[in-house]
Amino acid sequence: MIDRVRLVLGCHSGIEDYLRNGRPIQVAMFNLGYLPRGDRSIVTRAATTLAAIGGLLRHLSIGGRITILSYRGHSGGRKNTKK
Ligand SMILES: C[S@@+](CC[C@H](N)C(=O)[O-])C[C@H]1O[C@@H](n2cnc3c(N)ncnc32)[C@H](O)[C@@H]1O
Repeated sequence: MIDRVRLVLGCHSGIEDYLRNGRPIQVAMFNLGYLPRGDRSIVTRAATTLAAIGGLLRHLSIGGRITILSYRGHSGGRKNTKK
């Protein structure tokens, strides 16, 4: 049995909508890019990912951690978004 877990079907950029209990986040994990063995045209995007990370940082506890794993083997995987 899994408790203290809530599954949300939605864009990660809206993460703050689900962080309203006021408790700081200690650990968050991003698994970005495409779903291995899935459709490589369905991928995470820079704009929504940056919004999600920004939202999380506003709730991250002191000493908290965010890990980011990215599958880059898709058409936009090596795109440099820096200007
Ligand atoms: C590397 S896979 C990770 C899948 C699964 N979450 C896991 O950790 O095993 C990245 C997934 O992000 C999903 N995705 C794409 N855009 C997204 C978004 N804006 N918000 C949340 N997930 C998104 C894609 O459908 C893709 O399946």
